Amino acid sequence: MMKPPARIAITGAAGQISYSLLFRIASGDMLGQDQPVILHLLEIPPAMKGLDGVVMELNDCAFPLLNSIVTGSDSREIFGDVDYAILVGAKPRGLGMERKDLLLQNADIFSDQGKALNESAKRNARVLVVGNPANTNALIASANALDLDVSQFTAMTRLDHNRAIHKLATKVGASSAMIQKLIIWGNHSATQYPDITHAQVDGQPAKNLVDEGWLKSVFVPGVQQRGVAIQESRGASSAASAASAAIDHMRTWIKGTDARDWTSMAISSDGSYGIDTGLISSFPVVCKNGQYTTVEGLEVDSVTKQGILNSVVELKEERDAVRHLL
Ligand code: NAD
Ligand code: LMR
Repeated sequence: MMKPPARIAITGAAGQISYSLLFRIASGDMLGQDQPVILHLLEIPPAMKGLDGVVMELNDCAFPLLNSIVTGSDSREIFGDVDYAILVGAKPRGLGMERKDLLLQNADIFSDQGKALNESAKRNARVLVVGNPANTNALIASANALDLDVSQFTAMTRLDHNRAIHKLATKVGASSAMIQKLIIWGNHSATQYPDITHAQVDGQPAKNLVDEGWLKSVFVPGVQQRGVAIQESRGASSAASAASAAIDHMRTWIKGTDARDWTSMAISSDGSYGIDTGLISSFPVVCKNGQYTTVEGLEVDSVTKQGILNSVVELKEERDAVRHLL
């Protein structure tokens, strides 16, 4: 017998990321080929006509797992009874902006949606924030959802994690599947710190296969600045890769990490690795039985420590700028 359908809310459903994300979810990439889904799609009123067109296309795919679609502009209605919420709807940055420049423009969206999730979503709903600046938007949403646990709110650094995997794999002539135990620390921003000190390439320590110069001047800045590189080339921010990372983030959270690996997720800090309690920061996590736990006790060298600290300083500045919403 088929499982009962899972209800998944996606905000910004007529936008660029959603144009890839919705089709991947409906085809079973996120929850598996045995899990029917109901899509709850939120948009602002001026974008509803565009969203109607996206719904026509979703229907025209005749996805066997797509049970039904609900659309609307009222967040309380759209979040009703949802099991999962992927909060994409927010402005992307323009050229020359940092993601944190979006903070004040997008913050109100996440305080309102935090309250709406609190009122309407399932009590155990899992939330992924994609809209930038994702870490601090997740902090705002969670602070406004007083009856939901902070552990239900996560932000996306899986795109950075995937970018780092590809960069390392290319450098050492391996496939992405051979890379394990990379870490993205901190903020989804130019201060994030991609760390390969524990990474393995087909079971071998990655740090033995690359030199310090490459790490410092190519790998770290290349991952930190990949969003800008895409924006400059495409004339728009990453969309299909962001959607793919959102699918990866949710699937890993629900189905678990591989036994010999971990992933990177931005979660509420419990003070591990000196990161201030309550900041939403990226950590290495293991997922099992639908829960994530921080990988504890890793040795952190002085360069990585400084990288983490730089990102924490920025996360604290962002938090302080939105104190009125927390
Ligand atoms: P987009 O402009 O194409 O789409 C955003 C959509 O959100 C629009 O359709 C808009 O109408 C809608 N929207 C705006 N306010 C809303 C609200 N209050 N409720 C519901 N919908 C609302 O942008 P995009 O390319 O899809 O990117 C969306 C966000 O994701 C941006 O903030 C972007 O910077 C961010 N992003 C994050 C990552 C990451 O790794 N965390 C990666 C890529 C993009
Ligand atoms: C990305 O990393 O591609 C996104 O956060 C979009 C951006 O603004 O860089």
